[in-house]
Amino acid sequence: MNLSKSLDDKIFTTVGRVADEQQLETYVVGGFVRDLVLKRSSKDLDFVCVGQGIKLAEAVHKALGGQLPFTVFKSFGTAMIKNGEQELEFVGARRESYNRESRKPIVEDGTLEDDQNRRDFTINAMAISLNKRDYGTLVDPFNGIKDLEDKIIRTPLDPKITFSDDPLRMMRAIRFAAQLNFDIEADTFEAITEMAARIEIVSAERVIVELNKIILCDKPSYGFKLLFYSGLLKIIFPEMVALQGVQTIEDKSHKDNFYHTLQVLDNICEATDDLWVRWAAILHDIAKPATKRFNKKVGWTFHGHEDKGARMTPAIFRRLKLPLGAEMKKVQKLVRLHLRPIALSKEEITDAAVRRVLFEAGEDTDDLMKLCRADITSKNQNKVERFLKNFDKVEVRMREVEEKDKIRNFQPIITGELIMSTFGLPPGKIVGELKEALREAVLEGVIKNEYEQALEYLLKLGREKGLEIVNN
Ligand code: CTP
Repeated sequence: MNLSKSLDDKIFTTVGRVADEQQLETYVVGGFVRDLVLKRSSKDLDFVCVGQGIKLAEAVHKALGGQLPFTVFKSFGTAMIKNGEQELEFVGARRESYNRESRKPIVEDGTLEDDQNRRDFTINAMAISLNKRDYGTLVDPFNGIKDLEDKIIRTPLDPKITFSDDPLRMMRAIRFAAQLNFDIEADTFEAITEMAARIEIVSAERVIVELNKIILCDKPSYGFKLLFYSGLLKIIFPEMVALQGVQTIEDKSHKDNFYHTLQVLDNICEATDDLWVRWAAILHDIAKPATKRFNKKVGWTFHGHEDKGARMTPAIFRRLKLPLGAEMKKVQKLVRLHLRPIALSKEEITDAAVRRVLFEAGEDTDDLMKLCRADITSKNQNKVERFLKNFDKVEVRMREVEEKDKIRNFQPIITGELIMSTFGLPPGKIVGELKEALREAVLEGVIKNEYEQALEYLLKLGREKGLEIVNN
C-alpha cells in the first residue's frame, strides 16, 4: 500500500530529502500513521531512522532554517523540533529488552523490524517510508491496517511479552479501545487480566495520564468496564470497585452504585468536556459503601455520603497524583453539594434556600446543576422527566434570585477590617462572629448586601453585644 498522497504536509518530503542526503533509511511511525489511516488529526510526528536519530534531527533542523526550537535528549538518543503546533521527534531504530523489575529498557541499535517488534499494538506499529526510492510505502508487518478496519487492539508479539516490557501498555490498550471504540482481542485481554498486578511497578503519574484520557472519552463507561473486568481498576482505584454490587435484606435491594456512577459519568460527558466535573461525577457517590445502613422501616440509607465523599476526595487525589489545588477543591465542592439542588426541588423553594446553594456553589453553580441532572439515572422515563422539570424550575428560581441578590460571587460588603475599626477591636473571635452574623442575615434575606443596610445591622449587633462604637 502506498500512502504518499495522504502525506500532504511538506515536512515529509523535507525529512525524506534530508534522510536521502544523509543516507539514512527513514520512516514516519506509530500513532501518526494510525491516525492518518483513521483520518484523525495528530500533531506529534515520530520519525525513526536506521542509524542516529540525533544526526538526522540536526540536519532536518538546519534544513528548516535553523531557527525552530530544538532539544536534544542525548542519553535517550532522541531529539525534538518544535514546528509551530507540531512536535517532530527523531530517534534511531532500536531493539529493546526490559529488566523485569523496572520499566527502564536496555536499548541497542536495531533495524526497522526490531523497532516495530517492540511497539505496543499492531495499529501503532506501522511505518511509512520517506526515502525517495519508496516514498509513501506502508510497512505493516503485523497487519495493523486490518486491525484498524476490524477495530481491534492487539499486541504485535505475545501479549505477555509486550506487557511485561511495559505494564502501562495494559492501561493504554484500554485507553485506545475507549478512545477509538475498539475491541481488545481475546488473548490480549486475557493477558491483561493475568498480569494486572504488574501495573504496580508503573508510577502513579503515568497511570493517571491514561486514566484521565479514558475519562475524557465520549463514553468513558466502556473504558471503566474494561478496567473493572480486567482487575486493573481494583488495583489503581479500589474505592470505585467498592461501589459495585447489590445487597438485599428483607427483599429490599439498593442499586448497584458502580454501574450507576458509570451512567452518571456518561451522562455528564454529554454536558461537559471538563475533566474535573467528570471527576466529580466519578466521586459523587464514592462514600456510599462507607455510609451504607439498613433500616427496617426505610430500607437502605447512605446518610452523609456527600460529606464523607467530599472528605475522602483529597486523599484519593493525592494517591492518584491528581492536582491538589483549585481542581481538587472544585471536585470536593461538587461532591459535597450534589444533593442540594434535589433537596431544593422537593421543598417549597424559599429564596433563602436558593441563596444558600448559590452562595455555597458560587461560580460552580452551573456545573453543580449539570451533575444533578446527570445523576438522574432512573429507567422510568416519566420519573426522569419529572425530575428534570423540577430542575428547570430550580434553575429559573436561581436566575431570579441571582439577578436580585447577586449571591454567586458574594463578597460581604462589610469586611473584618471595617468591623475592627468600627468597634476598636483587635483581630479575634468576636470579629469572626460578627462577620458570620452579617453573612447569615444576607443569606436569610434579613438585609441586602448593601453598605447602608449592612452597617446599620452591624451597629445593632454591636449594641446587643455591648460594644462601644469608636469610629462610625
Ligand atoms: N509506544 C509503545 N509503548 C508505550 C508507549 C508508546 O510502544 N508504552 C509506541 C507506540 O508505537 C506509539 C508511539 O510509541 O504509537 C508513540 O507513543 P505516544 O505518543 O505515547 O502515543 P500515540 O500512539 O502517539 O497516541 P497518543 O498521542 O494518543 O497518546
